[in-house]
Amino acid sequence: MVLERTFSIIKPDATRRNLTGKIIAKFEEGGLRVVASKRIHMTRKQAEGFYAVHKDRPFFGELVDFMISGPVVVQVLEGQNAIARNREIMGATDPKKAAPGSIRAEFAESIGENSVHGSDAPETAKDEIAFFFAGSDIVG
Ligand code: CMP
Repeated sequence: MVLERTFSIIKPDATRRNLTGKIIAKFEEGGLRVVASKRIHMTRKQAEGFYAVHKDRPFFGELVDFMISGPVVVQVLEGQNAIARNREIMGATDPKKAAPGSIRAEFAESIGENSVHGSDAPETAKDEIAFFFAGSDIVG
């Protein structure tokens, strides 16, 4: 077991439905701690930069439009094996395939409007955290 930090976004479909607290409760009940958090409305430039890895995918335009359609909550989550643990708590990208009790099984509306984002590996977690937070914003 290793103490890790991961990056999380509560997406516009979830903030619109006032689900922020219910989603954070899932992280906390799952053993993760919120060590940095802010509610922002991403610019198009930020969303395109954040999701640059997907820029050649057919859904890229739709993804960026959705991510700037309303406020999001960007967070750093800390805990034992936080990257993998967060992915379990979120459930599969496609809510139809997400495990019962996971955030996406309970709250996601579709594969695109899937309520949360979470880093997929240590290197991505480091880059994604640095995209939105300075070291001094994170208080463990
Ligand atoms: P996320 O974990 O934020 O990483 C990339 C996002 O692209 C993903 O969650 C989905 O919201 C979105 N995505 C993945 N596949 C599709 C798809 N087939 N159509 C629309 N959006 C998608």
